[in-house]
Amino acid sequence: MVTISKVVSVISMLLTILIVLQFEEGKSFNFDLVNVYVTNNITNYQLGVHCKDKNHDKGFKSLKFGETYTFAFYPEFPFPRSLYFCGFTWSNIRHRFDIYDQRRDVKDCGNYCRWIVNESGPCDVSDGVKCFPWGPDVVTSGRILDHTPNV
Ligand SMILES: *[C@@H]1O[C@H](CO)[C@@H](O)[C@H](O)[C@H]1NC(C)=O
Ligand SMILES: *[C@@H]1O[C@H](CO)[C@@H](O)[C@H](O)[C@H]1NC(C)=O
Repeated sequence: MVTISKVVSVISMLLTILIVLQFEEGKSFNFDLVNVYVTNNITNYQLGVHCKDKNHDKGFKSLKFGETYTFAFYPEFPFPRSLYFCGFTWSNIRHRFDIYDQRRDVKDCGNYCRWIVNESGPCDVSDGVKCFPWGPDVVTSGRILDHTPNV
């Protein structure tokens, strides 16, 4: 039989776990929709962008200079491990980049993550400007979205 005191003790245990997790993360939990914006800053070429995580495909879009690819999702809870990555293609160049890594971005950009894509790499412009070089992972056609975790 489930007693009131048992229920109370389970609830208080869950609360304790939540509070401990919250302190570990050093921030409040984020239950809100995360919006990601990826803007093409490559003049001369249309930029193909295709973002997905392991379960959700946000589709392909070809961006003219200045155009933006947008998607939104609810971050994972209670363990912050949402990971969206995008394939970027222009001319005959292909790159892959982790556009939203919850462990990195929960602090870096919060709920509005804005990226500008240069030929030299993407820049997070959500809060100041943080540029990243493209990785060495220029992959061949067809494999662009095969996500291999960073090693
Ligand atoms: C776009 O790219 C140009 C040329 O590389 C650069 O000077 C400029 O800062 C970029 N614009 C933005 C908004 O990042
Ligand atoms: C790319 O964008 C960033 C900021 O948006 C800018 O500071 C930088 O100059 C741009 N150009 C290159 C070639 O990185």
